Amino acid sequence: MSDILQHTEAGVMTLTLNRVDKKNSLTVAMYAALADALEQAAEDIAVRAVVLQGHAAVFSAGNDIGDFLNNPPTTSTSPVHRFLQAISGFPKPLVAAVCGPAVGVGTTMLFHCDLVYAGDNAAFSMPFVNLGLCPEAASSLLVPQMMGYHRAAEALLLGEPFMAEAALEVGLVNRIVPPTEANGVAQTQARKLAAKPLGSLVQTKRLMKMGQAAAVRQQMAEEGAQFARMLTEPAAREAFSAFMEKRRPDFSAQ
Ligand code: COA
Repeated sequence: MSDILQHTEAGVMTLTLNRVDKKNSLTVAMYAALADALEQAAEDIAVRAVVLQGHAAVFSAGNDIGDFLNNPPTTSTSPVHRFLQAISGFPKPLVAAVCGPAVGVGTTMLFHCDLVYAGDNAAFSMPFVNLGLCPEAASSLLVPQMMGYHRAAEALLLGEPFMAEAALEVGLVNRIVPPTEANGVAQTQARKLAAKPLGSLVQTKRLMKMGQAAAVRQQMAEEGAQFARMLTEPAAREAFSAFMEKRRPDFSAQ
């Protein structure tokens, strides 16, 4: 079965992360499938809203760390960048259901979703520094903006996880629900959106986002350049090797 399930019904395209044995960590192929689906959804008049969901026990463990080692994204046309561009510029409503761990891009992609419903087991984290990396997906702009600088520093410098209640308090999440209900709630909300006039939805989203669309693009370009450089440097190589070898990283030389 595919690692990304795609299904369209009642005007709603549902994309399900489906690599649960690897905690829905995202491979190059999964980014490409997500980018293809979002590009198709943007164009297809039969799609009026998109739901992005995982499993009741896990949303996503972020980028596949084996791919970081063996297939690092080097160009702006690599699948991860195509996905980030597709989600950050997606013109129609995007609804997420998030349960369990949401690590790295599993959290940062939510800053580009319009509505987010979280299971009470949701645990968000952006441990880029702990991996010798820097933020991506314009999170270095959007996280401080949403959370305030000092909470953002806990999340991005210390890499500390935060739970569903904290995400609700800062406004990253719309509502907390039982994990088994999250996907259903997201689907209900997406179908409500799909019943509204598409032109009004698209225009309203565009107007809400246009004030900082250029800043988001610029931040993503700068993050992307730094991220690509840092992926090949010793701190990140040590972090990835440590993860693969199931040991603590040793940054004493970095
Ligand atoms: N990349 C590749 N494989 C991953 C992965 C990732 N990001 N996250 C988890 N996996 C794999 C594990 O290696 C393990 O594989 P195995 O069964 O072959 O040993 C499997 O998924 C289950 O993961 P495990 O760590 O045993 O699950 P857990 O429930 O104890 O912990 C997480 C879940 C998400 C907290 C933990 O897996 C984790 O921290 N993952 C790394 C997250 C990360 O740093 N992502 C990059 C962000 S930029």
